[in-house]
This record gives sequence, C-alpha cells and structure tokens, in this order.
Amino acid sequence: MVEPADLRMKRIPLNHGGGQMPALGFGTLIPDPAVTITATRDALEAGFRHFDCAERYRNEREVGTALQAGSAAGKIAREDIFVTTKLWNSNHRPERVEPAFEASLDRLQLKYLDLYLIHTPFAFQPGDNQDPRDQNGNVIYDQGVTLLDTWRAMETLVDHGKCRAIGLSDVGLNELKPLYDSARIKPAVVQVESHPYLPETELLEYCKERGIVLLAFAPLGHGMKPGLLEDPVILAIAARVGKTPAQVLLAWAIQRGTALLTTPKSAARAKENFDISALPQDALDEINRIQTRQRLNTVVKTGVPGFIPQGG
Ligand SMILES: NC(=O)c1ccc[n+]([C@@H]2O[C@H](COP(=O)([O-])OP(=O)(O)OC[C@H]3O[C@@H](n4cnc5c(N)ncnc54)[C@H](OP(=O)(O)O)[C@@H]3O)[C@@H](O)[C@H]2O)c1
Repeated sequence: MVEPADLRMKRIPLNHGGGQMPALGFGTLIPDPAVTITATRDALEAGFRHFDCAERYRNEREVGTALQAGSAAGKIAREDIFVTTKLWNSNHRPERVEPAFEASLDRLQLKYLDLYLIHTPFAFQPGDNQDPRDQNGNVIYDQGVTLLDTWRAMETLVDHGKCRAIGLSDVGLNELKPLYDSARIKPAVVQVESHPYLPETELLEYCKERGIVLLAFAPLGHGMKPGLLEDPVILAIAARVGKTPAQVLLAWAIQRGTALLTTPKSAARAKENFDISALPQDALDEINRIQTRQRLNTVVKTGVPGFIPQGG
C-alpha cells in the first residue's frame, strides 16, 4: 500500500458508507476533568481531528465542552472532526442501547456520532451502576443478553441515521468472527490494545481482508516505563531518523495499516505526537522483528477496564 507523504493527514474510509476516519486519533481516557478539557483543546489545536470517548470515562461532558470551545476558536466545522464514543457493559440490553447513546450525545453536545462502539463484549448487570459487584466483590455479569442482541440494537442506530458507523472494542477473533458472519451491518472498526509488544497480526490480517479498521489503543505502551518508549530498538531508530521514540511508535502503527489513539496530556506532547512522519522500510522491519510480548490491559479478559483508577 502506498502511504500518503503526510501520515498526519491520513484518512481511512469506513465500510457501509461510514465516512473517513483520521488515522491519528486522540483518546480521552483522562481521569481528571480539568485535564480532560485542557488536553482535548491542546489536541485540537495541535491538529488532531479524531477523538475517542466513552461513557465509562465519565468525562464526555468535559470533552464536549472542549470540542465546542476549541472548534469555535479554531473555526473548525463539525464535519471536520470525527468523534467516537462507546456503549458501556451495563447497557448491553437492547432496550438500553438507544437511551445510552442519546445520553452520550447529549453530554458531548453533538447531533450525531461518527462512530459508536460496544466497549467490551462483556455484558454486566443492566442498570446505572457501571461496576456492579456481589458481596464478594466479584463483577455481576448478565447472562440474559448476547453480543449479537446488542449488535442488532447498534444496527438500528445506523438505520435511524444517528451514527455513521458502528464497531466493537476489546474483542478477539473468537468474538469478532461469529458476529461478523451474522451482522447485517458489518463492524466498521475494531478497537484493541496494539503496539510492537502486542502486534495482533492475525486480527489485523482478518480485519484488512474485510475492510474493517483496526484502531490501536496504547500505541506508546500506555507510557509505562520500563516499556516501549525505552526499548533499545525504538531508541536507536529515533536517534537515526531524528524523531522521538513516541513519534517512531505512532508512525509505525499508521504505516502498518492501523489507526491509533494516543493520549498526550500537555500541549507540547500533543504537538510532538501529531508531528509524525513516515519511517523508512528498514526501520519498520526492525520494529516488526521485536520479540518482546506484553499485554498491558486485561479488559479483554474480564470487561473490567484496566487503565481507569479503582473506584473511578
Ligand atoms: N477500548 C478500551 O478498552 C481502551 C482501553 C484503554 C485505552 N483506550 C483508548 O485509547 C486511548 C489511548 O490509550 P493510552 O492512554 O494507553 O495511550 P498511550 O498514548 O499509549 O499512553 C498514554 C501515556 O503515554 C504518555 N505519553 C503520551 N505522549 C508521550 C510522549 N510524546 N512521550 C512520552 N510519553 C508520552 C502519557 O503521559 P502523560 O500523561 O504524562 O502525558 C500517558 O501516560 C485512551 O485515551 C482511550 O481513548 C481504550
């Protein structure tokens, strides 16, 4: 595939007429409400046009406020930004899907969403408690609804023109394949953890063959140290090409055909993470040869979010 000269501007077409997703995305999993507002505005100012939200992050209001103010200040039209949010586990019952969607839309102060994702394939006890637990502290799951039941309600949102595309998050091929086969509207996007220590090659190939966008979260390994940002291969390439380790990791993700979500929290880092450029093929090959394997977020195994502080 021929990459555009400017990775920052790359847009990936979504299936089912879902428009185009900017490959370089900003994630809003930011526990502090004030930081959510400043970081979101900084990202918009730096050039990010793709914003990833979730009802579970409990900051859609702050993201909406920042996007409104930032768009007005920068004269940025709604059509020029791409906004995603996600249905939480306690809203998987079909009759809860549209109300949850409308509540997110209201908090984000938007009239439509570009993308709505089922946050995880795990259904929790339905209700307003996002973290339902029994007396022993164990999560209460809901056995009375299947992922396909929830998907059917997501399809209805597209039918009604409320969102342009729908997809899944925190799934593996075991969940994706049967859903893909049964879906009337195929998933446009699958959001999962992915970086050189967790390349998800098989999932990426499956998605590419079907025109599904793999949207990688934690492309910097969630900034953990020691970790990817200090990997000797990444450091050597960064020194060689005159970029930072973060810029190397983000370029690799886009050049291998995924979209990504990164969460810089200062203006300087927002500029840094937006200012990426294509790596030479030998650098991509070296990163592809990294053998370390590490999953940072266990949400995919339990539905319990990994990067959200306890009690949050
Ligand atoms: N679907 C899911 O279950 C799920 C799960 C997790 C995340 N997500 C989404 O993915 C988004 C991104 O995930 P993530 O936060 O793990 O992304 P990330 O960009 O890999 O990691 C963010 C961390 O990296 C640090 N960082 C950012 N830019 C840096 C730079 N240039 N140099 C050095 N360190 C840097 C940040 O530090 P500072 O805080 O100091 O800036 C922060 O601690 C989330 O916001 C959310 O939207 C989805």
